[in-house]
Amino acid sequence: METKTAKKTQKKKKVSANTKTASKRLMKLEEKYGAHNYHPLPVVLTKGKGIYVWDVEGKKYFDFLSSYSAVNQGHCHPRIVKVLKEQADKLCLTSRAFYNDALCEYEKFMHEFFGYDKVLPMNTGAEGVETALKLARRWGVVKKGIPNDKAKIICCEGNFHGRTVTVITMSNDPSSYDKYGPLTPGFIRIPYNDPKALEEALNKYGKEVCAFIAEPIQGEAGVFVPDDGYLKKCFDLCHKHNVLLIADEVQTGIARTGKMLCSQHDGIRPNIVILGKALGGGVLPVSACLADDDIMMNIKPGEHGSTFGGFPLAARVAVEALKVVKREKLVDNAEKMGQIFRKEIKKINSPHIVEVRGRGLLNAIVTKPINGKNAWDICLKLMDNGLLAKPTHDDIIRFAPPLNIKEKELMTAIDIIKKTFEEMAQ
Ligand SMILES: Cc1ncc(COP(=O)(O)O)c(C=O)c1O
Repeated sequence: METKTAKKTQKKKKVSANTKTASKRLMKLEEKYGAHNYHPLPVVLTKGKGIYVWDVEGKKYFDFLSSYSAVNQGHCHPRIVKVLKEQADKLCLTSRAFYNDALCEYEKFMHEFFGYDKVLPMNTGAEGVETALKLARRWGVVKKGIPNDKAKIICCEGNFHGRTVTVITMSNDPSSYDKYGPLTPGFIRIPYNDPKALEEALNKYGKEVCAFIAEPIQGEAGVFVPDDGYLKKCFDLCHKHNVLLIADEVQTGIARTGKMLCSQHDGIRPNIVILGKALGGGVLPVSACLADDDIMMNIKPGEHGSTFGGFPLAARVAVEALKVVKREKLVDNAEKMGQIFRKEIKKINSPHIVEVRGRGLLNAIVTKPINGKNAWDICLKLMDNGLLAKPTHDDIIRFAPPLNIKEKELMTAIDIIKKTFEEMAQ
């Protein structure tokens, strides 16, 4: 998520002067024929393996974005790619007009892995969020007795849940919603990390509220980590008012923060969990909603779906993606490496650094501009030094490598970050 001001400053600073010819040509192609809805760093990638990516000129980089946490298992993980290839040769897509022999196994696996009665498979994170909102509204009407078309959902300031029209309705960032109206009614927005605000909203609107949706850590907002116990307090309040808690774990889920689900840090079991990104093992868009029958069974055949949702290729890949997370103990590694990362980065003495924060391997450095050089410039310098990271907003740089990074590799990456901040101060 980039703000308008960030985009403007970034555009001015443009591509660094020493960009090589092949990259230049490919970036020009994208500029000419692709919609300008992103502003990437000026690097053109062609290969990825584990925690590394290579550009078209052959330069190797640490990937410290992991495609916004979609590549938790590392690039082109051999086991995941093997399963992908085997299934691609056998059966890719059936739609849900017929049964297939992969989806049912995936569904059973998800039940055993996460402990919810059922899974509803979708593709992108935003679709997962849409699905959760529909599940909640339907439950609100059918089970809680909210009059039809009256169900309300409470969301948080600073959220990022995706880009569809209903989902951007929840956003308070104009670069997400401006001039896309009319937006969807039925949302109440409250401050994040503020259980009191939730209590007040529930006291005021509780009877018509079906759900409260939150990210356990706000990733796109700049890895904003709420106070310990925040989600637990919210969960208890929701329970008291017969309101569902929806945890958007699209970015925080699947080991990223040092637990399989980030909401486990607060010891809660959300009523609905939304997963995406790393569920596809870094190779396919795979998302899902997890919930128990009381919520899930209110949607009947023909009332929701997606042609690709749970397609055989995705089903097999998702199972392998989760098996890899378990087999390689990525939960523990994310926790351990995250501790080292924050400890080492906090030692850097740079006038640019305002704060270091995060959980597991979802971390951020909050920066301030010095001599007109901001987070974008720091990311360009990191890139020159062989590490890819991306600013979120004008001043925050997220650091989220694949979760299989080893301590030695992490220390090398930290050296690059240290060196970069030293160079920025010169
Ligand atoms: C918390 C959260 N929810 C939903 C989404 C949307 O996912 P997608 O881009 O796959 O639609 C994102 C994407 O960054 C996210 O971070």
